[in-house]
Amino acid sequence: MQSIVAPFPAGRLRRNRSSGLIRDLVRENYLAAGDLIWPVFVRDGEGVEEPVASMPGVVRRSVDKIVEAAKEAADLGIPAICLFPYTDHVLKTEDCAEAWNPNNLSNRATRAIKEAVPNIAVMTDVALDPYNVNGHDGFVENGEIVNDRTVEALVKQALSQADAGADIIGPSDMMDGRIGALRSALEAQGHTNVALLSYAAKYASAFYGPFRDAVGASGALKGDKSTYQMDPANSDEALRLVARDLEEGADMVMVKPGMPYLDVCRRVKDGFGVPTFAYQVSGEYAMIAGAAQNGWIDGDKAMIESLMCFKRAGCDGILTYFAPQVARLLADK
Ligand code: PBG
Repeated sequence: MQSIVAPFPAGRLRRNRSSGLIRDLVRENYLAAGDLIWPVFVRDGEGVEEPVASMPGVVRRSVDKIVEAAKEAADLGIPAICLFPYTDHVLKTEDCAEAWNPNNLSNRATRAIKEAVPNIAVMTDVALDPYNVNGHDGFVENGEIVNDRTVEALVKQALSQADAGADIIGPSDMMDGRIGALRSALEAQGHTNVALLSYAAKYASAFYGPFRDAVGASGALKGDKSTYQMDPANSDEALRLVARDLEEGADMVMVKPGMPYLDVCRRVKDGFGVPTFAYQVSGEYAMIAGAAQNGWIDGDKAMIESLMCFKRAGCDGILTYFAPQVARLLADK
């Protein structure tokens, strides 16, 4: 795009910023409740809302409370809620069988939401880490995270989620070949309308720290995830991963984390023109919410600004723990 600017003083670029009305007219991007996916943490019990220490304002909810939250989100115009289970230590095993238990926490929450709240889409997470004694997203054999056997398990996990009523399946595991395997299994089982939102460009990031607390995986994780998650130094590789996942049948793609990777979001959107999402992850949330709690920044303004930046970078939507708070703020305007 060629930008033409008249020489000063004919060209005074401040004219378009001179009042709120003019700024409204020339604004290039908008943020709406319809852009948001709300990640929530599910735990056992009834009537429970338990704060997550490293994420001020975020709680783990029992299934009944998740249903209430889903209703509230739907009323605010948030189109999707994304479930992450906090799994009891006794259910974490080496074979991760709880991952495809039709009655596991995630599947129970999905069924309860689909029954009670028809106007919100349920997204689920495909990866073995909540169920793995090792805390890894895949099976560990002799210290190695093995790919192909993991993909077989991910297929079982995803089918149990689709059977429970999930609308969007989000594979966050970064194994090779999983999108193709998931897509053909879903087709074979008649789940033709279940969408795959691939965590295509997921980086090995320190910003996931608070999340691992929230799902009770921090203690379990041995080593790091850099043999499957991406090196933060790379972005050409992100484009290869996105291309590969689209060819295998992904409907939408994601870049994760969000704000430190906006350049990747832009490259993906420009390069492929597909529905592109970013995940404003737990560490990004904690930085904003923690600083706001201390009075160091204006929390509402920082929240809105951070989310607007995703739109400017080309994202169609954002997964954010701020979702209900933002939607409420946008509705008050
Ligand atoms: C694991 C998973 C992670 C997140 C979503 N799914 C953590 C990880 O890869 O270790 C992170 C989300 C966040 O930090 O908010 N499959």
